[in-house]
Amino acid sequence: MLTNLQQQPADALLALIKLHNADPRQGKIDLGVGVYRTDAGATPVFACIKAAEQKLLETQDSKAYLGPEGDMGFVHALMPYVFGEGDPTKGGRIDGMQTPGGTGAVRLALALAKRAGVEKIWMGTPSWPNHAQIVADLGLELKGFVHATKGGRADMDSLRFAIGQAGAGDAILLHGCCHNPSGIDYTHAEWDEIAALLKARRLLPIIDLAYQGLGHGMEEDAYGLRRVLAEVPEALIAYSCDKNFGLYRDRVGAVYVMMASADQVGAALSNGHALARAAWSMPPDHGAAAVRLVLEDKALVKLWLGELGDMRARMLQVRAKLAEAGVAGTIDLSPLGKQNGLFSIIPLTSEQILSMREKHGVYMAGSGRINVAGLTMGNIDQFIAAVADVSGAG
Ligand code: LMR
Repeated sequence: MLTNLQQQPADALLALIKLHNADPRQGKIDLGVGVYRTDAGATPVFACIKAAEQKLLETQDSKAYLGPEGDMGFVHALMPYVFGEGDPTKGGRIDGMQTPGGTGAVRLALALAKRAGVEKIWMGTPSWPNHAQIVADLGLELKGFVHATKGGRADMDSLRFAIGQAGAGDAILLHGCCHNPSGIDYTHAEWDEIAALLKARRLLPIIDLAYQGLGHGMEEDAYGLRRVLAEVPEALIAYSCDKNFGLYRDRVGAVYVMMASADQVGAALSNGHALARAAWSMPPDHGAAAVRLVLEDKALVKLWLGELGDMRARMLQVRAKLAEAGVAGTIDLSPLGKQNGLFSIIPLTSEQILSMREKHGVYMAGSGRINVAGLTMGNIDQFIAAVADVSGAG
């Protein structure tokens, strides 16, 4: 039977990690998978996490099972940051559960939508490639629209048209901030309009907030999510701490449901528990426990927000330097100065992307996406020169 399983291509993004590692060249540059790097090219464990892990080591007295919902202290401690201080539960209408990373959160959000009867998922393209893979794996139908215009803004006409075409009961998957792969986010005015449109058309929003704090700040990056939640009766939110706590391989995420009334939340989430039990039983504990310990300690929160602020400042510095370079070959780098988060797209052809890798040792995704944080003040000129070289005008 098992020979029926045909060879599958490796995930293109994850394959880049191995390709880059195998390259013996000194000056190679890894702009592939989305991990933050310092100006020295390192991805260190956050100091706030190290401190929390130390506490965990000293105080954790058991590793007995928790349950499919994971660490609810973690899930609840995050809520004021995600949904706002005051009443982050919106009168008990929002609650959640822990998931294995942001991918687990997206998977569970989409599986919950499917269980609720959703058949079609609307999504701007390009998107994070795993979005479409998860939609397909769940047997949901993907309906695409164009995310961004050539001018580097969100393509609101395409989005309006898509929302107009969508039927009540369809779901729409939106990136809360730091759009992956384009870095092109909706403005506040655009979010205001989107929130009203979703309400009018009775679409179920699924908001993927995987990069909160990497754009303009924890509060600022939640604007779109909170505007949508203020309008619609129900929503699903997929959250990741893998980036904003630097916990990538520890897989720390959460999925939240917002219902029209508080008494409906338990039933909805019980489906999440059942889906989790059948898939992974319960999420890994360590990273979420460390995040909880950070969030429970004012001094560690301050340390964390400072570390996040330093990451943002560095990415802004890289973006400013790219924008300052203006045109490299035939590629205008100036729009990158206005984009948000870890990613932007350099509109190179497949051959040019291959040439970036083979001739210049610059590893970027096949979509033209670069991880801006892979650039440092030490290698950015080399990158700009490589773009100029492969894109022709020289
Ligand atoms: C990325 O897009 O590089 C990250 O979200 C990592 C991943 O899992 O793909």
